[in-house]
Amino acid sequence: MKRDFLHITDFSTEEIRATLALAAELKARFKKREDFKPFKDHTMAMIFKKPSARTRVSFETGFFCLGGHALYLGPDDIDIGKREAVKDIARVLSRYNDVIMARLFDHAHVLELGRYASVPVINGLTDFNHPCQIMADIFTVLEHRGHLDDLKIAYVGDGNNIVHSWLKLAQRLPLHFVCACPKGYRPDADLVKQTEAAGLSTIEIVNDPQAAVKDADVVYTDVWASMGQKHELKERIKRFAGFQVNTDLMAKAKKTALFLHCLPAQRDIEVTDAVLESKASVIFDEAENRMHAQNALLLKITGKDM
Ligand code: CP
Ligand code: NVA
Repeated sequence: MKRDFLHITDFSTEEIRATLALAAELKARFKKREDFKPFKDHTMAMIFKKPSARTRVSFETGFFCLGGHALYLGPDDIDIGKREAVKDIARVLSRYNDVIMARLFDHAHVLELGRYASVPVINGLTDFNHPCQIMADIFTVLEHRGHLDDLKIAYVGDGNNIVHSWLKLAQRLPLHFVCACPKGYRPDADLVKQTEAAGLSTIEIVNDPQAAVKDADVVYTDVWASMGQKHELKERIKRFAGFQVNTDLMAKAKKTALFLHCLPAQRDIEVTDAVLESKASVIFDEAENRMHAQNALLLKITGKDM
């Protein structure tokens, strides 16, 4: 049975922990430039409907370093869902490639890809979630803290795809996850309920960023207008007044608090330049860890981690 990684919850708690351990091992091997080519003669199709720096470069570089070849299929190439049905692309690419990675708008499309492809499908971001990002994020937190016990994550900003993946992670690892967002920009209510019902984590969706970051181990933010919403930015800047992560807000978190941002950041909009450049900021470790976490994921879903 092929495995997909479309949501964090496609992995069990044990698999997530094992993936993080494998990511650390792969990172160390990568730094030593060890010759490790489990994907020799393998190919990965990467479908992009949205722009990307980290996702494209980390997947393409990571897969190459593990011996494989990755193909970039940009918005003008296959135009999935328009030029051709998603279920047809899924079956065509499965005849050529060993893995499919896709960054799409519509979450239903990535689900359909998974359903029809006979090879593993990895979600490289949809309007609904971004599971590879959150694997890299939690890996970064683990590296910096040394453990994941008693972890309070305070997310400040838009209740978007990043928040949805944090909520999915909270169904697998015990977290105290607080999302502070303006009314009207809350994460999906059903997913919040489902995460609370899973009973593993403490979830709070609040309106007050100051209270949210109190004693937080991690302060996280993301752009106020995601890809596909950029035209709303002007309006959103008004609505998100008071939700900027700045030095004053960071001072309310734990002294040892880390600052994370999936990037790209809009400097001095959702977060100040000073916070991005501060000692607390681990944004470039986080970006680097995309590659190591994804390499671990790729080995896991293809069963090559044995
Ligand atoms: N964080 C992230 O996914 O970055 P890109 O949009 O550049 O891939
Ligand atoms: N929420 C952002 C994440 C970018 C990595 C977006 O979807 O544009």
